[in-house]
Amino acid sequence: MLGNRSILSTSARLLSSRTTSRAFASSARRSQQPPQQTEPIEQPTTHFGFKTVPEHMKESLVRGVFSNVASSYDIMNDAMSLGIHRLWKDHLMRSMAPMPGAKLIDVAGGTGDIAQRFLSYQDNNSDKTSSVHMVDINPEMLAEGEKRFAGSKWVQDGRIGFTVGNAENLEFIDDGSFDFYTIAFGIRNCTHPERVVQEAYRVLKPGGRFMCLEFSRVENPVLAAAYDLHSFYVIPKLGELIANDRESYEYLVESIRRFPAQSEFAQIIRNAGFTTIGKGYENLTFGTVAIHSGYKF
Ligand SMILES: C[S@@+](CC[C@H](N)C(=O)[O-])C[C@H]1O[C@@H](n2cnc3c(N)ncnc32)[C@H](O)[C@@H]1O
Repeated sequence: MLGNRSILSTSARLLSSRTTSRAFASSARRSQQPPQQTEPIEQPTTHFGFKTVPEHMKESLVRGVFSNVASSYDIMNDAMSLGIHRLWKDHLMRSMAPMPGAKLIDVAGGTGDIAQRFLSYQDNNSDKTSSVHMVDINPEMLAEGEKRFAGSKWVQDGRIGFTVGNAENLEFIDDGSFDFYTIAFGIRNCTHPERVVQEAYRVLKPGGRFMCLEFSRVENPVLAAAYDLHSFYVIPKLGELIANDRESYEYLVESIRRFPAQSEFAQIIRNAGFTTIGKGYENLTFGTVAIHSGYKF
């Protein structure tokens, strides 16, 4: 049975980025002493959409975005993708084809699309023992997920649990606990995707499978131009009209462009210790999204 505990994120925010900026300590130096030459302080930075921000700020900025969009998240997903995100998620589940009794951890689980598909898939195969543990850094997004499952037989049977936590540090999960790890449209929001994948490796059982559904790169130049038009004009406009929040949707679009391309991300997965089959990913809808997959052998 899964516990319904809520654990606030305790990510260590280690300062170890490859990208750095120069911040100059200046203010707190108004003493009577003669002005001194100040040394530039190396401050790790990262990207937040197209902006460069101090690394330690990204987590709270991302949390803010998803707090803003939580209540309109599901309807916006349908509007932005014309419902196609449902087909991508269905495809992920068919590719997973979980065995009876499988234990899934769905990280950055948000409002529970993957968790619901997983439990329904198992029910359709007459399996009443599989379970899913949803983890998300944002309590509001997770609360939308909890609302969706409230009163369901899955909650009553203890087959679904919810924890507020950071994908980069799943310290509340023991090593080798799960058969499957999923992260759908979540990893690009994380400050250190490579740490997310390393944590996935740790919490999976030997033989377990990592699966990541994420926006990716459209290679065909004509389609890529059309996709850019949709991303940079239509999606922010929809955000403004439906969610009254253009800025959060600008971030979501920009964050897609900052995420590594398919083969680069496949290498991050292999570097964490996973074995990939073939090139390690499958493109869907011309590479608009890709499913990356790796096994812990
Ligand atoms: C675009 S939503 C995806 C939700 C869901 N997986 C889906 O496919 O509909 C991204 C989710 O990632 C979560 N998230 C962002 N950074 C995270 C982190 N470092 N750890 C855990 N969750 C995170 C957000 O709070 C948000 O719920």
